[in-house]
Amino acid sequence: MTAPVLSASDPTAIDRGIAVLRVGGLVGIPTETVYGLAADATNGVAVAGIYAAKKRPSFNPLISHIASIEMAEELVVFTSLARKLAEAFWPGPLTLVLPRAANCPVNELASAGLDTLAVRMPAHPVAQDLIRQFGGPVVAPSANPSGGVSPTTAAHVASGLGDRIDLVLDGGAAKVGLESTVIGFDGETPVLLRKGGLPRRDIEAITGRLSDVRPGAATSSPGMLASHYAPSARLRLNALQAKQGEEWLGFGRFAGTRLNLSPAGNLTEAAANLFAYLRELDGSGATHIAVAPIPDEGLGEAINDRLNRAAAPRMTD
Ligand code: TXA
Ligand code: MG
Repeated sequence: MTAPVLSASDPTAIDRGIAVLRVGGLVGIPTETVYGLAADATNGVAVAGIYAAKKRPSFNPLISHIASIEMAEELVVFTSLARKLAEAFWPGPLTLVLPRAANCPVNELASAGLDTLAVRMPAHPVAQDLIRQFGGPVVAPSANPSGGVSPTTAAHVASGLGDRIDLVLDGGAAKVGLESTVIGFDGETPVLLRKGGLPRRDIEAITGRLSDVRPGAATSSPGMLASHYAPSARLRLNALQAKQGEEWLGFGRFAGTRLNLSPAGNLTEAAANLFAYLRELDGSGATHIAVAPIPDEGLGEAINDRLNRAAAPRMTD
C-alpha cells in the first residue's frame, strides 16, 4: 500500500502528521530545502525505521529538527559562535553539528556512534507547525532512498518511498532545492562539512574564512560519500554542448533546446530546479546527460558539489 499524500492546507494535516509521529511512524514533510522523512527523534524504533525505509547505512547520522533555540538547547551544547550562527540564520538552511547535551533525549542511533548531534530549525511553516505542536525534536533525512536524488516535491517522496512510509504532507515545491549547509566545529574552529542552501559567504560574514573539511577528518560528515544524489543516467559536466546520444541540461546562455536550470543565469533559480530536472531527464529515459558549466560562486558551489557527486563513479560500478 502506498502512503496517502495529504495537502498541507487540509485542516487535519498537522494532526494526522502528529498522530503518525506519536505511534513511531514515518511522515514525509516539506521543508524549504528538500522534503524530509520525519520520525520522533526520541523513539528508537522510529529512528531505526528511517534507516530501514531509506536503506541508509547505519554509520550516517541524522539531523534533529527543532522549532526554537530553546528546544535545541535541550539537545546540544552551544558555543558562543554556534549561537551567533543560529541567531543569524535560523529558521533556514543551516545545520549545526554540536556536542550532545548531558541528558539529550534524542535516540543514540541518530548520532550513529558519534558524541555529536546535528540540529536545524527549518523555515517551512508546515515543518515548524508540526514540530511545535508535536512538542519535541523530529529527525528527518532527505526523503529519498539512500544515494538517490533528494526530493523537492511530495510526488518525488511518494514515488521513491511511498510504499515504506505512513503519510506524506504536501507543502508545495521546496523553495531552496538544495539540502542545508552543514557546519561542524573542530574545537572552536568552524568547519564546512557540507556545502548547501546557505552560501559560504553568508556564513563567513560572521565566522571569517571557513575551512573545508579534510577527507577522513574526525569532524567529517559521514554522509558525504563520493557518489550520491545520483540519477540513473551518466553525467558529463562543464559541457559546452550535447554530443550524440546525450540529453542536455543547460544554464543561462548555454541554453540548448530542452531543459535550462535558469535561462536568466540565476543560481537561486538553478538550485530550486536542479533535482527536479535531473529526475525529469531520468524519467524520460535519458542514459547520458551533458550539463552546462555552472559558475562556482554563491549557491553555485553547492550545485557543483551535487553535480560532481551525481557524476562520480558508482559504488556498484
Ligand atoms: O536540508 C536538509 O538538511 C534536509 C532537510 C530534510 O532538513 N535533510 C538532510 O538530511 O539533508 P540528510 O540525512 O540527507 O543529510 C544529513 C547530513 C549527512 O551528510 C550527515 O552525514 C550529516 O548531515 N550529519 C548528520 N549528523 C551529523 C553529525 N553528528 N556529525 C557530522 N555530520 C552529520
Ligand atoms: Mg540525504
